[in-house]
Amino acid sequence: MSVSRIRTLEEYHAAYQKSVEDPDAFWADVAEPFTWRKKWDTVRSGEFSPAGESKWFDGARLNITENCLDRHLALRGNKLALIFEPNDPKTRHLRLTYRELYQQVCQFANVLHANGVEKGDRVIIYLPMIPQLAIAVLACARIGAVHSVVFAGFSATAIADRVNDADAHFVLTADGLNRGPKQIPVKSVVDEALLHCPGVRRVIVVEHLGWPVHMQPGRDVWYHEEAQGVPLTCPAEEMKAEDPLFILYTSGSTGKPKGVVHTTAGYMVWADYTFRNVFQVEENDVYWCTADIGWVTGHTYLLYGPLLAGSTSLQFEGVPTYPDAGRFWEVIDKHNVTIFYTAPTAIRSLMATPLDNVLSYSLSSLRVLGSVGEPINEEAWHWYHTHIGKGRCPVVDTWWQTETGGIMLSALADITPSVPARAGLPLPGVQPVLLNQDGTEIEGNDQEGYLAIKASWPAVIRTTWGDHERARQTYFQPYPGYYFTGDGARRDEQGLYRIIGRVDDVINVSGHRFGTAEIENAINQNEHVVESAVVGYPHDVKGQGIYAYVICQGGPPKDAAEARKWESSIIETVVAEIGKIAKPDKIQLVSGLPKTRSGKIMRRILRKVAEGETSNLGDVTTLLDPAVVDEILTGRK
Ligand code: PRX
Repeated sequence: MSVSRIRTLEEYHAAYQKSVEDPDAFWADVAEPFTWRKKWDTVRSGEFSPAGESKWFDGARLNITENCLDRHLALRGNKLALIFEPNDPKTRHLRLTYRELYQQVCQFANVLHANGVEKGDRVIIYLPMIPQLAIAVLACARIGAVHSVVFAGFSATAIADRVNDADAHFVLTADGLNRGPKQIPVKSVVDEALLHCPGVRRVIVVEHLGWPVHMQPGRDVWYHEEAQGVPLTCPAEEMKAEDPLFILYTSGSTGKPKGVVHTTAGYMVWADYTFRNVFQVEENDVYWCTADIGWVTGHTYLLYGPLLAGSTSLQFEGVPTYPDAGRFWEVIDKHNVTIFYTAPTAIRSLMATPLDNVLSYSLSSLRVLGSVGEPINEEAWHWYHTHIGKGRCPVVDTWWQTETGGIMLSALADITPSVPARAGLPLPGVQPVLLNQDGTEIEGNDQEGYLAIKASWPAVIRTTWGDHERARQTYFQPYPGYYFTGDGARRDEQGLYRIIGRVDDVINVSGHRFGTAEIENAINQNEHVVESAVVGYPHDVKGQGIYAYVICQGGPPKDAAEARKWESSIIETVVAEIGKIAKPDKIQLVSGLPKTRSGKIMRRILRKVAEGETSNLGDVTTLLDPAVVDEILTGRK
């Protein structure tokens, strides 16, 4: 038996037990096959409490790209590393072997160097889902620069916030992007952002659509011009195990998004181990994760995990419904995809279209199906299992977070139990617990509580960029000795975990996380707005929708036309502050919000109204002005 690969249920139990009883020995064995310039001094160190610090493989030296690329050249040099499927099916797809990807990454890394990027510099990557995005990320890692990918749907304000928070001097971007039938400018969004980022010295622009863009002399350069004649090899920078690999911004319950920091060695080991075991990957698999590299799923399971494992990973530029709602299934047949990993929101939106979109394709290459990002409801699970997996492919419902770096709770395909709407059992190394409000562990099965993790695992969040105290307070202080996930969960009769959803003020819209405070802050930027309160409500396709209660200056609008005008102006503000993905689904203009006498908004009431549970609002007598509740009920959207 290989310690890094579980093949039976007995092996799962044995691995799990060893990972808990002797984690140092377990992870030393798992880490052994990687390419290390120098091995570690200690496998694990640091404490969750009080410092919120973990170190893994401390003392080791390595470069993650040597493990993703160089290590495979001898045996897999001609194997496909990346298949790029463009937005428009009529455009030719692109395939890169491990050797070709290695060369392109090295060339990009040399261009970065030549443009002044040094080890430890932060590089903001605002690129669409094109091969250069994957290449740019790896090129940063090659030279020890810290990449911070910003999803190419975020607004100029969101980019500026991230550039400034990361104190980044370099930005990588493209002229424009394709999104279904639309073409969207990208460079101009960066230009607008950089008006507020005086620290940026260089912008490298990838030509994708061939659009004319404004190039600021002395700051902006074209990648294809910079790359001319540049060598296809580049020595990999030797990194310490705990050197930061990347920052990824994610929303929390308070304030602006925070920069989650992952470091090199622990993240690498976790990405590889979880990828191979959850999906039970074999040498000839063609694996497709539909997530954008701008999110953590794309980082770990489109890019790093598959490349570390020497797999073939498919990158898709487009959307599930272009040119029609059969596109995913067409791509699966076209490239003989064997493992498919997507989000419930995509499944739900495709379920709502005629089944003929699926029946026109064979899908016979598929072997394993995965789900990620939000709870998958039973109906969607069954549709996925029956119509896409034809009843023969196991469905792995993988629970994890940006902060966990990789999958924590999930079935291992065809090995551990896969039950609809259950993430399942913990992976080796993961010790989940359910906590009471007071922080005591809830024993036994058939129980519900706050989900926390009792011991460190290799890819646990190390810090939030520039503000370790924030990480400590968010994750390690609420329940000392534990990592607090922010999710509620149930452990069923068999000990399988079912995720109920967030217990904090974070909402999950189409698998994307937003803080209600973050959306409120955006809405409050609108000139008409006095105050707002945002809650989530169940949405058939998105999982959760965004419901905003807004007080405008001068009280409620005069008439329906004025209401519409204000609503669209509020939407425009949110799009400008965050991006289209955070657009409220419903806006209710109100004259007051239900507040306690101490001025605290009673979100419980707002949530119930948004959810349509209007008959049982609970005690409203403690409100400052109970009459606002009647107004809110009457005006409910
Ligand atoms: O609430 C959980 C939900 O998504 C949150 C993490 O969001 P993010 O950091 O953006 O990462 C998403 C991709 C890993 C969690 O706190 N979540 C994620 N996966 C699942 C899930 N909820 C239920 N089931 C899942 N499989």
